[in-house]
Amino acid sequence: PSWASAPTRKAWPRSRRAAQQAMPRTRPPLFNARKTHANRGNMTSLTLARPDDWHLHLRDGAMLRAVLPWTARDFARAIIMPNLMPPVVTGAQAAAYRDRIRAALPEGATFEPLMTLYLTEDTDPDDVAAAHASGLVKAIKLYPAGATTNSASGVTDFDAVRPTLERMAEIGLPLCVHGEVTDPDIDIFDREAVFIDRVLDPIRRATPGLRVVMEHITTSDAVDYARAQDDTLGATITTHHLVINRNHILAGGIKPHYYCLPVAKRETHRLALRNAATSGEARFFLGTDSAPHTDANKLLPCGCAGCFTAPNTLPILAQVFEEDGALDRLEAFTSRNGPAFYRLPVNTDTVTLTKGTPDLPTHIDTDEGPVTVFNPGFALHWRVT
Ligand code: NCD
Ligand code: ZN
Repeated sequence: PSWASAPTRKAWPRSRRAAQQAMPRTRPPLFNARKTHANRGNMTSLTLARPDDWHLHLRDGAMLRAVLPWTARDFARAIIMPNLMPPVVTGAQAAAYRDRIRAALPEGATFEPLMTLYLTEDTDPDDVAAAHASGLVKAIKLYPAGATTNSASGVTDFDAVRPTLERMAEIGLPLCVHGEVTDPDIDIFDREAVFIDRVLDPIRRATPGLRVVMEHITTSDAVDYARAQDDTLGATITTHHLVINRNHILAGGIKPHYYCLPVAKRETHRLALRNAATSGEARFFLGTDSAPHTDANKLLPCGCAGCFTAPNTLPILAQVFEEDGALDRLEAFTSRNGPAFYRLPVNTDTVTLTKGTPDLPTHIDTDEGPVTVFNPGFALHWRVT
């Protein structure tokens, strides 16, 4: 059966109730309750274990060369999304892509790309297991067919990928999930919540032990679901979804640079994401989903989805966490929870943020044309030094 459009609505009543208990209805009063040094709002310097980005689009060729230095400047490692044209499907393709990334690194950079494979209905479980055993591949990415940029080769028939998922559960290789149904009858703002019920929860129940990352979550439904699960489930949260809601895209003129997938939802959802990201809870970690497209491709009658946040993610996050009185939990989100989920060591080197206006471009030039950097809509006052 076609699992992406299956009509059954599988409820998860137990987990939903547990989630409601776990999630307070209002935000705890962090400002008053937590008078740690990091939360007093007068900090001028903050040193973190060097961050990692657990969801990144680097592209290839000229675009790769232009965007990679921005990530390599602030991050030690990143999970590299495989949605190239054609996609990175086999271990051999991932090894070749890793070599192209390494070759594009600026002189002296120590950035380590963590490779992923794009799951298709033809994926060979033995190739996946070999790519994992060699240390090359750190996760497999599941795109429902048609859900987002370059996802045409994604999965429609869940049964066809079952042998691969079972092998992944055996060897402990995480599945990164783009959590949106593609059913045209489902409203785009509901596609994540419906995916959890129709696809994600059934996959997890059918594949005990499978370690799953819910990628770029955008709803309180996803936060609630994640909080109700055991430690086989993690969730990445992007920079931009902590800052924008759907008004930013649609009110006062359409703003293509804020259009990404999954699309930003209403304000209550943004607040739930902020609560999750700033909570320090181990299951939530940073995946920027920095997804560069040229302005020419963004500003079309049918423009591309994606926000380019690699250059300014750390200054934005510092400000978000500071505003929420949670600066002392920033390191958990950017540098500790991700490695713990992926069973990798925390980086031993550090980055330091200091108060001051960062020197960041509004766009970067590439041989394919300019790419606009995500504009958070407020003046930044932290910079990476
Ligand atoms: C991503 C891209 O452009 O590759 N776009 C986006 O809006 N996030 C694809 C994706 O992660 O869905
Ligand atoms: Zn992405």
